[in-house]
Amino acid sequence: MSQLKWQLVIVIFLLYQRSLSAQDTPSKRIVKGFNADPKQFPYQVYFTNLVDSYPSGGCGGVIISNRIVLTAGHCLSRKFDAVEMYFGTVDRSNKREVGQQRLIIKSTNIVVHQDYQAHPYLNDIALIRLPADLLFDEYIQPAKLPDANELYENESAVVSGWGQTSFNGPQPNRLQYYNVTVYSNEECKNKLVPYIFPSSYICLKPSQSTPCHGDSGGPLAIRNEDGTHTLLGVASFVFGPCEINTPAVYTRVSSYLQWIKQFE
Ligand SMILES: *[C@@H]1O[C@H](CO)[C@@H](O)[C@H](O)[C@H]1NC(C)=O
Ligand SMILES: *[C@@H]1O[C@H](CO)[C@@H](O)[C@H](O)[C@H]1NC(C)=O
Repeated sequence: MSQLKWQLVIVIFLLYQRSLSAQDTPSKRIVKGFNADPKQFPYQVYFTNLVDSYPSGGCGGVIISNRIVLTAGHCLSRKFDAVEMYFGTVDRSNKREVGQQRLIIKSTNIVVHQDYQAHPYLNDIALIRLPADLLFDEYIQPAKLPDANELYENESAVVSGWGQTSFNGPQPNRLQYYNVTVYSNEECKNKLVPYIFPSSYICLKPSQSTPCHGDSGGPLAIRNEDGTHTLLGVASFVFGPCEINTPAVYTRVSSYLQWIKQFE
């Protein structure tokens, strides 16, 4: 596939949406997702970039410790002053939601991977360092980091986010999720026919649901028997206009454990 074609695909279909939609309808879904309940995804974060105090774009993130939130590099690669982060949130429109906490973090606390690039996305990972310890409770909990040597192929997992419920449609106020199976890189590569396919990608097996714009940076996680979750990926990009039955590509967190470690 030519470089130009890749660029078009990514420019058109990148998950990050710059402007928040004003006409959100909570009854609608991600793209064929399900309403999340409070405490179901305590590691999920929502944030919006602030430019001159105005919100610009919305992304997901994942708590991995009381000081670090992981997200996608492309969510933070443009110029902004700060991010407003929402923790313990299911309904992002409700400031008074039980368990919800909001924090404004200056851009100086943000690190985008030094080798991040777009077209195609590579090293699409960033972290937000919190200036004080996050207090964990039933609404706010970290996800565990993955095993460095595991591929997690064919494992049952779950993705969540406040992304569009249809291509160019509204972003819901209510957090959406759906269950997924981790696709092998081999199968994903064959399905996508990209000109590069690094091992630092991890894909969702095509299904009746898909992430869409606004889900970027959000988690692909597995549920552990003890109720904790292990983070496998952060949402990077999809192909096609958020079409179902198409793989979605996440940044494989296990490829960045050493990078993350230096900030712990
Ligand atoms: C995952 O599933 C595919 C397709 O069914 C299969 O070819 C592959 O061997 C499986 N991988 C593992 C590690 O089980
Ligand atoms: C997702 O999987 C979990 C664990 O197997 C299950 O409890 C839940 O009902 C599933 N949700 C949906 C929407 O299928």
